[in-house]
Amino acid sequence: MQSLANKRLLLGVTGGIAAYKSADLVRRLKEIGADVQVAMTPAATHFVGPLTFQAVSGRPVRLELLDPNAEAGMGHIELARWADLLLIAPASADFIARLAHGFANDLLSTLCLATDRPIAVAPAMNRLMWRNPATRENCRILTQRGIRLWGPAAGEQACGEVGEGRMLEPLQLRDAAIAHFTTDGSLRDLKVLITAGPTREDIDPVRFISNRSTGRMGFAVADAAACAGARVTLVSGPVSLPTPPDVERIDVASAQEMYDVVMSRATAADIFIATAAVADYRPAARTEHKIKKTQETFTLTLERNPDILATVAALDHGPFTVGFAAETRNVLEYAEDKRRRKQLDMIAANQVGVPGSGFESEQNALHVLWEGGEKVLPLADKTQLGHELIALIAERYHARRH
Ligand code: PMT
Repeated sequence: MQSLANKRLLLGVTGGIAAYKSADLVRRLKEIGADVQVAMTPAATHFVGPLTFQAVSGRPVRLELLDPNAEAGMGHIELARWADLLLIAPASADFIARLAHGFANDLLSTLCLATDRPIAVAPAMNRLMWRNPATRENCRILTQRGIRLWGPAAGEQACGEVGEGRMLEPLQLRDAAIAHFTTDGSLRDLKVLITAGPTREDIDPVRFISNRSTGRMGFAVADAAACAGARVTLVSGPVSLPTPPDVERIDVASAQEMYDVVMSRATAADIFIATAAVADYRPAARTEHKIKKTQETFTLTLERNPDILATVAALDHGPFTVGFAAETRNVLEYAEDKRRRKQLDMIAANQVGVPGSGFESEQNALHVLWEGGEKVLPLADKTQLGHELIALIAERYHARRH
C-alpha cells in the first residue's frame, strides 16, 4: 500500500447523502499516514454530525467562517495554506456552482478561494442534476481552472434512480489522492487530447452500426496521462465507465460528432492519442422512422466517415500524434503502413478478435512503432499498460523536442 505520510489534506464535506462515506474516507486517508482536517458546510451537518468527523480525524471540525475560537487557533487563511490538497467530498451541485462562480459565503467556499493549493472535487448528486447543462458548464469552468474532478461514478443512486452522479468510493478517492501525490510529472501541464470507445452510426431511430470497444484502453490511457500531470480531455463514444480523476470528459455518439469535438480542440493540444474504434463508414441516409420488414433482402448504402486521426496528423503545427491499429492479422505490417500513410509520430498496434486481449478484455498487449524505433508492451492489465504507454509517449515527445 502506498503512503500519504507527511501529506496534509483538508477534507471539505458538503450537503449530500454521500457525506456518510466521507467519515470512512477520513479513516482510509489517515491509515496511510495523511494528516486530515475537516471543514463542513452547514448543509453537511444535517447529514453527519461534526462529532463523527472529529472522532475519526482526531482534530476539531471547522464549521463557521467567523468563529472567534477557531480563528484564535488556526485562522481560515492559515488553514487554506496548511493543506497540501483540498478535497471536497461529497461536492454537491450547489457547492460546485458556488466554487465555479467564486462565492465566499461560507467557510468552505472561502477556503477554496483563499488557497493556492490544488483542489479536487468529488461530485455527488442525482443523475439529472449531474447532466444538467448548468452543472456541465460549472464543471467545465472548474477543470479549465485546473481543479480536478474525481468522478462521479455511475450506478444506483440514493434517490432510487440509476445513472452517473454517485460519489467515488472512499478507496477510489484515496487512490486518486495517492496518484495525485505520486505523479511523475512527465507530462506536467501539457494538454493531452484522447479519443476512446466505439462510435454509433444511426441507421434509423432504433438501430445503429457500432463495434465491440468498451473504452477501457482509452480510459486507462487518459487516467495515466492525468497521473503524469497532463491536462487531459477525453472524447468518448458511448461507454459505461466512470470518468478518471482529473480528466475532462466530452461524450459523443457518432464519428462525425467525435471529429467535430476533436477538431475544435486539436490545435490547442500538445499530444493527441486516438484509441477510439471509430466507424470507417456510416449509413448514407438515416431514415426518420423505423425501417419496416417489407423486403426479403435489404441493402444499406454506406459512406466514408472523416478520418479523425489522419486529419489531426495533417494539421500545420498540430500535436504529437499517436494512433492505434486494431488488426486481426498482419498486425505489424498493417500498423506500420498506417503510421507512414497517416504520418503519425507513433502507432500502438494490437491484435483484436482474439479472447483475452484487444476489445472487451481487461487486458491487452501493444507493439508500439515510431520512426526508427519500436517497443513491445507485453500482455498486462489495461491500467498498467496505459501507464507504460504514457511513459513511452512522454519519452518520445520530449526526445522529439530536443
Ligand atoms: O475499448 P477497448 O474494449 O478497451 O478496446 C481497445 C481497442 C482495441 C479499441 C484499442 O486498443 C484500439 O485498438 N483502438 C483503435 C481501434 C481502431 O479503430 O483501429 P483502426 O485500425 O481501425 O484505426 C486506426 C486509427 O485511426 C485508430 O487510432 C483510430 O482511432 C483512428 N481512426 C480510425 C477511423 C476514423 N474514421 N478516424 C480515426 O481517428
